[in-house]
Amino acid sequence: MSDSVNRRTFLGTAALAAAGTTIPGLLAASPPEAPWVARPQASKFAAVGSANGIISVRNAVELMQRGRDTLDAAVEGVKIVELDPADDSVGYGGLPNENGVVQLDASCMHGPSKRAGAVAALEGIKTPSEVARLILRYTNHILLVGEGAKKFALSYGFKEEDLLTPASREKWLRWRANRGSGDSWVDVPDKQPIGMEHTGTINLNVVNAKGEISSVTTTSGLAWKIAGRAGDSPIVGAGQYTDNEIGAAGSTGLGEANIMVCGGFLTVEHMRQGMAPTDACLATLRRVVAMTPPRLLDERGRPRYQLQFYAVNKAGVYGCAALFPTKYAACDATNGARTLDGAALFPGN
Ligand code: GLY
Repeated sequence: MSDSVNRRTFLGTAALAAAGTTIPGLLAASPPEAPWVARPQASKFAAVGSANGIISVRNAVELMQRGRDTLDAAVEGVKIVELDPADDSVGYGGLPNENGVVQLDASCMHGPSKRAGAVAALEGIKTPSEVARLILRYTNHILLVGEGAKKFALSYGFKEEDLLTPASREKWLRWRANRGSGDSWVDVPDKQPIGMEHTGTINLNVVNAKGEISSVTTTSGLAWKIAGRAGDSPIVGAGQYTDNEIGAAGSTGLGEANIMVCGGFLTVEHMRQGMAPTDACLATLRRVVAMTPPRLLDERGRPRYQLQFYAVNKAGVYGCAALFPTKYAACDATNGARTLDGAALFPGN
């Protein structure tokens, strides 16, 4: 117990004694349980994440029900989307940076072993979530970036491939031909509305019936980003976070806004203080708005970007909230896989 808690307890009991207050049993009772102490609770299979992960949540729950570890279930779930050329926000087919190069970010956490792994600006490998899991499993490091991350992946037998699909290359060429104020350089005057870039990501948080928890987030990041830019997805504590005693949370949307509040971690901390998952996400979003620089707020003080948080607690209760109305994907043993409406801090879009 810390000195400050000792001092608070001492002062509290001393004050009661000085006031002559004698509440039977109070002074003799053990101190009240701190709110950050997790209480035992029954758990049930659940997976929650971004709406583009509707196949992933079902797959993850099925794998966990067959006995697969929670991290494997989460990674196998998001891999389906990483390998899907039609999803231009993640893995293969993800939209490239301003130079036409696809750079992928991912991170993951395994609650039971308290380990994490992450990659940023990884080129040429379709499934960064698997590379993040290898870092978690086989190294004492957490984050590998760029060329080093690629060499690490190649050493495990990954094949280097062109991640641009014909469709994503065409989108990049069109953007390059029409670029102007739509690039990623922050050089617009304060009051001038900024052009929005395309973001896309998949986050997945899972819990099994033993209350074991894992999380993963993977993305190609902002389309047309400055080469080397890493968003929130590879940042443990921002793009995703797991505490096996409490729950997991992660994010999609404008990564820079999330990094400013360490949103994955903060959302789990809100749950630790007793908030339900959706309320925890909303509380994090209020901090996001408070930390948003004026140039990213409109005349009514509303962000000019979208950001979503998804969370599940140890009992398998899940939720989602976003700055503006959004959908999310969830699966549990009772309801199966569903696309649901998340809570929104602001109406409209
Ligand atoms: N949230 C994904 C990104 O900003 O890169």
